[in-house]
Amino acid sequence: MVPLHSRIEACRAIPLFRTLGERDLAAIAELLIERRFPKGATIFEEGVSGEYMYLIQEGQVKVTKMSEDGRQKILEILSPGDFFGEMTLLDREPRSASIKTTHPCVLLALSRQDFLRLLERNLDIGMELLRVLSLRLREADEQVRALLFERVEARTRRVLLRLARESAPQDPTRRITAPVTHQELADMVGTSRETVTRVLKELREEGWLRKEGKRYVVPGEES
Ligand code: CMP
Repeated sequence: MVPLHSRIEACRAIPLFRTLGERDLAAIAELLIERRFPKGATIFEEGVSGEYMYLIQEGQVKVTKMSEDGRQKILEILSPGDFFGEMTLLDREPRSASIKTTHPCVLLALSRQDFLRLLERNLDIGMELLRVLSLRLREADEQVRALLFERVEARTRRVLLRLARESAPQDPTRRITAPVTHQELADMVGTSRETVTRVLKELREEGWLRKEGKRYVVPGEES
């Protein structure tokens, strides 16, 4: 069991709780249950019921949906400070997507009862939650538009730009710090791994995409 002061520090780093004072942070830290998962673990599958939401303290997960013939679409990659699993707690519907770890993870689980009580008592947490859900809806709308109207090369650029923005919002050099495989990129773009490998090669030949070690670097969004 991690000491309380470390759990308080972990809570402080989570944007959902950024407006809270010491006492509230300490109260929330008491409610969170730390759970560790190895790389490749399934936290839960789409369609099941659920009683917990999770905050990511360390590691990275992917949010996925499957087609009937077994193809996977990655809706989002979530990193430290992000949360997931809140939708089922709010609407009591089954899990809307599956969550799998892409790296070893330390997650902080919060029960439905505790989450709803926090929301009732703390307007700031509610506002922050709405802000994130609104951003996710914008991104989902954008993905629908891109899947319907854009070719695979434009979609690949868009996914790379998004990963860079989410990796390091303030970094003007636009490095993608989250390691992603070609298969994961393909599952985000909505195409095959072979196609993504070809498009990445073309983008590098064109000079739009660079590689520094294992990290991709994309241009600023205006270029
Ligand atoms: P829930 O439906 O409980 O379980 C799956 C979770 O995936 C969901 O809550 C959200 O936390 C998360 N999720 C679903 N769709 C998206 C999306 N488009 N972008 C980011 N996260 C999502």
